[in-house]
Amino acid sequence: MKIISQVFQEISPADFFYRNREIAGFANPARAIFSAIRELVENSLDATEPVGILPDIYIRLSPVKGEGGEGENLYVLRVRDNGSGIPADYVPLAFCQFLFSSKYKLRQSRGTFGLGGTMTILYGQITTNKPVKVISSTGSQKIYEYTLMIDIERNRPIILDRKIRENERGWHGTIVELSLEGDYIKAMPKVLEYLKQTAIVNPYANIIFIDPRGRLYKFERVVLSLPPQPKETLPHPHGVDVEMLYRIIRVTRCKTLLDFMQEHFHRVGKRIAQRFLEFAGFPEEADPKSLKPEEIVKLVQAMKSFNDFLPPDADCLSPLGEEILRAGILKELEPEFVDVTQRKPSAYSGHPFIIEVGIAYGGKVPVRDDILLYRFANKIPLVYDESGDVSWKIVKSIDWRKYGLTPGMPFAVLVHICSTKIPWKTVGKEMIADIPEVSREILNGVREVARQLGAYLSKKERDKREKARLSVFAKYLPKIAEFSAKLAGRNEIPSVENLLRRAKKIEED
Ligand SMILES: Nc1ncnc2c1ncn2[C@@H]1O[C@H](COP(=O)(O)OP(=O)(O)OP(=O)(O)O)[C@@H](O)[C@H]1O
Ligand SMILES: [Mg+2]
Repeated sequence: MKIISQVFQEISPADFFYRNREIAGFANPARAIFSAIRELVENSLDATEPVGILPDIYIRLSPVKGEGGEGENLYVLRVRDNGSGIPADYVPLAFCQFLFSSKYKLRQSRGTFGLGGTMTILYGQITTNKPVKVISSTGSQKIYEYTLMIDIERNRPIILDRKIRENERGWHGTIVELSLEGDYIKAMPKVLEYLKQTAIVNPYANIIFIDPRGRLYKFERVVLSLPPQPKETLPHPHGVDVEMLYRIIRVTRCKTLLDFMQEHFHRVGKRIAQRFLEFAGFPEEADPKSLKPEEIVKLVQAMKSFNDFLPPDADCLSPLGEEILRAGILKELEPEFVDVTQRKPSAYSGHPFIIEVGIAYGGKVPVRDDILLYRFANKIPLVYDESGDVSWKIVKSIDWRKYGLTPGMPFAVLVHICSTKIPWKTVGKEMIADIPEVSREILNGVREVARQLGAYLSKKERDKREKARLSVFAKYLPKIAEFSAKLAGRNEIPSVENLLRRAKKIEED
């Protein structure tokens, strides 16, 4: 038998995503246009709202007029924001190195992986061979303008040019401009849907989009307050694994396990730390750095099974709140009826989350053959792969007739999950996995708003019937009065005014 020798190779993260771009949302030219806009808009929102700036985002997608047959599907995408900007030295790494991020922290943000913006730039580079231009300022005296490419094999930025300009007006923000191949015509419905839904959950943002034909789409700010800013938090003991515990032990200055538990874990006070260590069978004075590998495993297992830790609190989350969600729905859907609810904070595997649910009926709510569901995660609309998402499974499992509704009626359900760790099914961030704690909260939330809509619809139906009944009275009562008077041989016809007034009043309501 002949043995064929194998060649082993190591590839960089950039190379990995170059080879597998579909898993990051860049499977084909239409999807690529959509994902490019989405990733840059998300970065802009992350650079504004969490630092207390009302977002102003300007997006322009322009066609590149090709010469000699080139470029039917080539575009220049430019996204500008008024955000925090990026410190000059970090610009090349933030944009041209995969898995480099300012968001690897335990607090809610749209970005999590450190690859969305970089993937967009890589896609632009491999389809057009053109560099990206990034202009940014943190509001300091300088504005930095970089021209960059990615060294894909080494996962490093290549700086082609760097210009520094005076920042006379104290501008802060970031502009990203790149060329890419795509198919806007195909992507258009999803892009517009994405922007509309972004406006629903970010009603405090001004978003302007100019499409390749020069059409302008404007989503105006209607709310001047921002949601609460998320605070960074410590890991909850239920979410800790062996690697995380090793890392914490490596950096800790605590000399005893009693201090260690209180210092590094979320909501662990002295009393709980003492009870936990007793439960786990570790002495309070033990030095964390002296734990043997098998003891570390034992400690982690005890952390997972100890039931008396306090649940994570929600300071690290930034839900919209009922008022903002309601304002967003009213602004974009102009419904006849709306109801929203925010569920109490909850947790899965030590990760806190909050579910917010809305329901809208009538007005300009679109009609769909099936149930119309808008899904959001950390204020990002999810517009692809609906059928694989936990919320879809839940809305399909509900018997809507109980609430006087059937698919095809003009109603929309909105589900928003906020968490420090959204249980994504893929890095493309389109589907949320079916975690029992999460689905329970979604189900309860949807039922709550559905009940309100059900009550509204049945009241509306009752009023309608009542009106119909009274209008029959209004028509026939005078005749009955006249007839009865005649029968009784009276000249005077009794007055039906009072009854008619009541009928009229209800009709006017
Ligand atoms: N418009 C912007 N303003 C300020 N900083 C930005 C902007 N765009 C990107 N960044 C910085 O660049 C980093 C990398 O962005 P990138 O989109 O690649 O990853 P991410 O947003 O951290 O995570 P994700 O992969 O989930 O999008 C961000 O963490 C942020 O620090
Ligand atoms: Mg990002």
